[in-house]
Amino acid sequence: MKRHEFLKSIGFRGAALMAVLSACTKAEDSVLPALTISPASPSTGSGTGTGSETGTTTPTTGTDLSTITNRLLTIDLSASSSANLKKVGGYITQSGIVVAQSSSGVFVAATQTCTHEPKRQVIFNVNEYYCTAHGARFSLTGSGKNSFGSRGLTIYKTATDGKTVVVYS
Ligand code: FES
Repeated sequence: MKRHEFLKSIGFRGAALMAVLSACTKAEDSVLPALTISPASPSTGSGTGTGSETGTTTPTTGTDLSTITNRLLTIDLSASSSANLKKVGGYITQSGIVVAQSSSGVFVAATQTCTHEPKRQVIFNVNEYYCTAHGARFSLTGSGKNSFGSRGLTIYKTATDGKTVVVYS
């Protein structure tokens, strides 16, 4: 027995029958597609890999790092001293600069010297810069996230070819 025949048999007629049928159709036919979230993956092969105003960079295979002139740091990712930099959220400090892998394959860099007081105590913490002296917090673009960090932080540009990270101004 079809649905409308069943409904008629139990007394539904005319407009009432149509209302029930359309209500059922909507309820039963509303199949929502599963929500699919693709894992974020670093883009490759596009862009310049020479940083941006956000202070981040994406790895670009074949990026010619040798063209970068005003270098502040050149970091060999295969060196044991770079081990912390190879994991997302990890960071190293060198020559007064904190360099971190903020997300997969994306490196960021900033001065270690805080703008609250000139203390060299800025580190990377999860997804922001943090000064261990009094707790100043800075975004990845260097803007202050609390009153101690209100003067912002100097951010440097980064570039990488996947083997080397260059920090430059
Ligand atoms: S010196 Fe960095 S928070 Fe005070």
